[in-house]
Amino acid sequence: MNQWESRWRDGRIGFHLPQVNSYLRRYSDQLFEQVPESVFVPLCGKTLDLPWLAGKTKKVVGVELVSQAVEEFYEENKLNYTIQQAGKLQLYRNASIDIYQGDFFDLKPEQTGLFKAIYDRGSIVAIDQPERQKYAEHLLSFLSPRGKILLITLEYDQSQMSGPPYSVPAAEMEVIFTKFGRLELLETCDILDDRFRNKGLDGLLERVFQLVTK
Ligand SMILES: C[S@@+](CC[C@H](N)C(=O)[O-])C[C@H]1O[C@@H](n2cnc3c(N)ncnc32)[C@H](O)[C@@H]1O
Repeated sequence: MNQWESRWRDGRIGFHLPQVNSYLRRYSDQLFEQVPESVFVPLCGKTLDLPWLAGKTKKVVGVELVSQAVEEFYEENKLNYTIQQAGKLQLYRNASIDIYQGDFFDLKPEQTGLFKAIYDRGSIVAIDQPERQKYAEHLLSFLSPRGKILLITLEYDQSQMSGPPYSVPAAEMEVIFTKFGRLELLETCDILDDRFRNKGLDGLLERVFQLVTK
């Protein structure tokens, strides 16, 4: 069992929010200049952002490693689904929200088509540093030309906590993403609370970036 399966099994899912992400609400108009056909949500967990996004577009497509997360998503939101094999992954299909269950790196853009908009929260920060450039390259392979990505990251002293979530400093975001287009920092928030103080952190920033590709 991998670390994500055991986290889901043991209910160690502090990243899961009981409401729609406030940055997504605030910046969705920027992400979607016009109503897009579809939006892609990598490493989606069972986020409530999926049904919220479904109200803004015709199709939401997620990918999530852990089947428990995917099944809980459809059950808790009272959405029906069918399951079919899709290459190395399982595709959970619904009229408005599809989720590919399996490893994101096994999903190919030929399966999903390209997206004008991608929403990445809790996703790049779930990827260990050596894999991050590869993650970004793979993520960008799902984006249409002149598409946009909203990315929400965390930044803290990595020596104080092992992660995930990992610290992805703004300087690293620049290095990873500027070759693809224009990376804009939209907002930075100090979100240090007792949960993270108890894990040993003395500072924790959440940052919101938008990448607009060439
Ligand atoms: C920090 S959580 C964030 C979930 C969601 N984005 C949210 O905002 O609640 C990261 C999720 O990515 C999933 N995950 C980790 N590695 C993955 C991979 N290689 N492919 C697909 N999903 C993955 C985990 O199971 C977990 O649900």
